[in-house]
Amino acid sequence: MSSSTAQRIIHLGVFLDVSGHYASAWRHPSTQAGRFLDLSYYKQLAGLAEQGKLDMVFLSDRYGIPDVYGNRFDATVRSISSSSAKLDPVTLITAIAAITERIGIAATSSTSFTEPFLTARQFATIDHLSGGRAGWNVVTSTSDNEARNFSRDRLLDHEARYERAQEFIEAVTGLWDSWEDGALLLDKAGGVFADAAKIHYAHYQGNYFQVRGPLDVPRSPQGRPVIIQAGSSEAGRDFAARFAEVIFTAQPTLQSAQSFYADMKRRAAAKGRSPEQVKIMPGVMPIVAESEAEARKIEASLSELVDPLAGLALLSDQINYDLSVHPLDEPLPELQTVTGMQSRLQLVSKMLQTERLTLRELGRFYAGSRMHRKAVGSPEQVADFMEEWFTGGACDGFNLMFPIVPDSMEQFIRLVVPELQRRGLFRTEYTGRTLREHLGLPRP
Ligand SMILES: Cc1cc2nc3c(=O)[nH]c(=O)nc-3n(C[C@H](O)[C@H](O)[C@H](O)COP(=O)(O)O)c2cc1C
Repeated sequence: MSSSTAQRIIHLGVFLDVSGHYASAWRHPSTQAGRFLDLSYYKQLAGLAEQGKLDMVFLSDRYGIPDVYGNRFDATVRSISSSSAKLDPVTLITAIAAITERIGIAATSSTSFTEPFLTARQFATIDHLSGGRAGWNVVTSTSDNEARNFSRDRLLDHEARYERAQEFIEAVTGLWDSWEDGALLLDKAGGVFADAAKIHYAHYQGNYFQVRGPLDVPRSPQGRPVIIQAGSSEAGRDFAARFAEVIFTAQPTLQSAQSFYADMKRRAAAKGRSPEQVKIMPGVMPIVAESEAEARKIEASLSELVDPLAGLALLSDQINYDLSVHPLDEPLPELQTVTGMQSRLQLVSKMLQTERLTLRELGRFYAGSRMHRKAVGSPEQVADFMEEWFTGGACDGFNLMFPIVPDSMEQFIRLVVPELQRRGLFRTEYTGRTLREHLGLPRP
C-alpha cells in the first residue's frame, strides 16, 4: 500500500551534514569529523536513517568554499567543517545507492552552471542504480563566488536565474520523458534491442537551452526522479508551485509555516496541480534528550563552541553580501535587497526587528540552525511539536537537521521515531520501494 492510499503520515528526510548542522558540531567530543571521506561512514549514517524508516537522505551543495565574508575563506575553513571540505553530492549519493536498500537519496544540483542533458542523465542513472530512489534538489545557487568557478564573474540576477532554471527543468523533464516505458525490448530472437517508436526527440527550444535529445538512458524506475526545490522568494515560490514535488523551506514559527503551506498549496492548485502532490517539508533542528534539561545542556554546549564569524560567513554567502564591512559589536543596519537568497535576508531582518542583536551575536545565533526552527526537549516534547505542525496545516513532514551527527540522529531514531509511531504519525515499516512511494507521490 502506498502512503497516498494509507493514513496521512509525516514524511521525514535527513538533511545530512557529516558532523552536524550546528556549525561548531565538528568540535564536539562525540563527532568523527575526519570520516567524511570514508564510505563506511556514509553506510553507517544512511543505514541508521534506514533503520528509522525515514523517507530520504538529502545532501545540499554549494560550489566551492564560502568566501563572501571579507572576500576570503579564512572564517570558513577555520570554523565550519562541512562547508570547507566535502565530497561531490551527486557522486556520493550514487555510492550511497549501492550501500542502502530502501531509503530515498537526494542530492542538490544547480541549474546555473551546467547543462540539462548532463543533469538529466546523472539523475536518471542514479534512479536506475537505486531501484527508483533518486531525488534532485533543484537550486539556482546563491553566491557570485560560485560563479567564479564556472568561468563567470557573477551569477545571473535573481529573476534571470529562475528563468534559466525553468528552461533547465523543462529540458530535463523532456529528456526523462524521451523514452517511453517499455521502449527497451531486448528481443534477441527478433533482433530488436529497443523500439524506435517509443523513443522521441525532446526538441527543447528556449532562450538559454536548445536540447534535441533523446536521452541515452532509458526511462527510469520512477518515471522521473523526484523534484525538490527550496526557493521562498516570489520567483522561487512560483517556480516551486510549477515544478516541485517536495518543497524545503526555513520557517521559524508555526504561523509563518502555516501561511507558507497555505500559499504553496494554493499556488500549486492554481497551476493545475493537485496540492497533495506537493509535499512541504520545513527544516527543523531536533535537539532531543531523555529530558528537556539535558537537551538544553546539549544546546548550550554547542553554542559555547561556536565561532560567531562562522555564522557570519554562512550568512554572507547565502545572501551574497559581505557582512564584514559592518562593525561586529554594533547592530546590523537595514540592508537593501541582496542578490543572493532573498527569503533568508527577510527572515533575519524580521527577527532583528524584535531582537536587538549585534552582528557578533547574530553570527553566534545563525551558526546554530540558520533560521530553521529548533525543537529542543524530551522525545514527547519534540513529537508534540512535530504533531502540532503536521496536524495544524503547517507541513507534510520535516527536513531533519541534526545538530550533532551521529549522536543526535541516533537519539532521534531511538527516542522520537517510536513516539511518532505510537501516535500513528509515522510508518513502522517501509510500504513502498521507491522514493515516490515513500512520499505518496504518483509516478509521472
Ligand atoms: C532547506 C534548504 C536547503 C537548501 N539547499 C541549498 C543548496 O544545497 N544549495 C544552494 O545553492 N541553495 C540551497 N538552498 C537555497 C534555495 O535553493 C534557493 O536558492 C534559495 O532559497 C534562494 O531562493 P529565494 O531567493 O527564492 O529565496 C536551500 C534552501 C533551503 C531552505
